[in-house]
Amino acid sequence: ARKIIIDTDPGQDDAVAILLALASPELEVLGLTVVAGNVPLPHTERNARMLCELAGRPDLPVYAGADAPLSRKLVTAEHVHGKTGLDGVTLPPPTMSIAPGHAVDFLIETLRREPAGSVTLVPIGPLTNIALAFQRAPDIITRVQEIVLMGGAYFEVGNVTPTAEFNIYVDPEAAKLVFAAGAPITVMPLDVTHKALTSRAWVEEMRAMGRVGQAIASWTDFFERYDREKYGSHGAPLHDPCTIAWLLEPRLFTGRYINVEIETQGEYTLGMTVADWWRVSGRPANATFIREVDAEGFFALLTRRIGTLDRQ
Ligand code: BDR
Ligand code: CA
Repeated sequence: ARKIIIDTDPGQDDAVAILLALASPELEVLGLTVVAGNVPLPHTERNARMLCELAGRPDLPVYAGADAPLSRKLVTAEHVHGKTGLDGVTLPPPTMSIAPGHAVDFLIETLRREPAGSVTLVPIGPLTNIALAFQRAPDIITRVQEIVLMGGAYFEVGNVTPTAEFNIYVDPEAAKLVFAAGAPITVMPLDVTHKALTSRAWVEEMRAMGRVGQAIASWTDFFERYDREKYGSHGAPLHDPCTIAWLLEPRLFTGRYINVEIETQGEYTLGMTVADWWRVSGRPANATFIREVDAEGFFALLTRRIGTLDRQ
């Protein structure tokens, strides 16, 4: 199985990504590293533990990481995710404890211990933990197999400012460092995740499934409310699960290997992912920027895998 570490700020869509990964035998989740983002760290790390228990995996180590961006004040998104970050369902309080040690130390130690090129990082929140690990231990960068992250937007522009996507906007300095590091990167920007919209029929299929399916149905109902009010769109965008789906079925996605730079200075464009789609800048490519998804295939994959958790 392919070894991954999910770096996360759960988040209803983070929750679905984590559950999908834990339901997939092709992936070996070495641990969850948690960061502040959608809501502050005390909530995100607690949510991560509740999710492991929901998936029947209280053995999985969950490490708490950065509680604030590298150099900025934390921006959160309670207006999207609710006060806890996982509003929509009340899960039982976690009984498993947080793993001892800092998430950044876990990232460094794991990448040094495992064979070079055998661990994939899946960041689905602000990139603070990953940047701190690369900053503190540059030797681990070449040991990373691949980074598959959710963040950014180009043609779809922003969801937190007119030009910036939330994960990148929260910690643009961290994102800049990660995109410049030299590790292979695949990016799931809003351009693709806004095409991974839940349908009524899919949500009802989830709700009919079992404990896990019911939780996902209630989360996506909660999450959809915001997009409906804000953009008049129907369906909840399942941003973060696109990363895991890419690892499982890359054929569902298409994109281009291009140069992507992170704006950290712009007066109006802070946190923008400047994606050179037409390759006009002459700057070297550093990321595979995904733009299209076979949404039907994506939701069918989710249904099959979540079903296996509910049948356990
Ligand atoms: C990203 O920001 C968060 O709100 C979601 O969990 C996702 O990771 C989408 O912009
Ligand atoms: Ca997230």
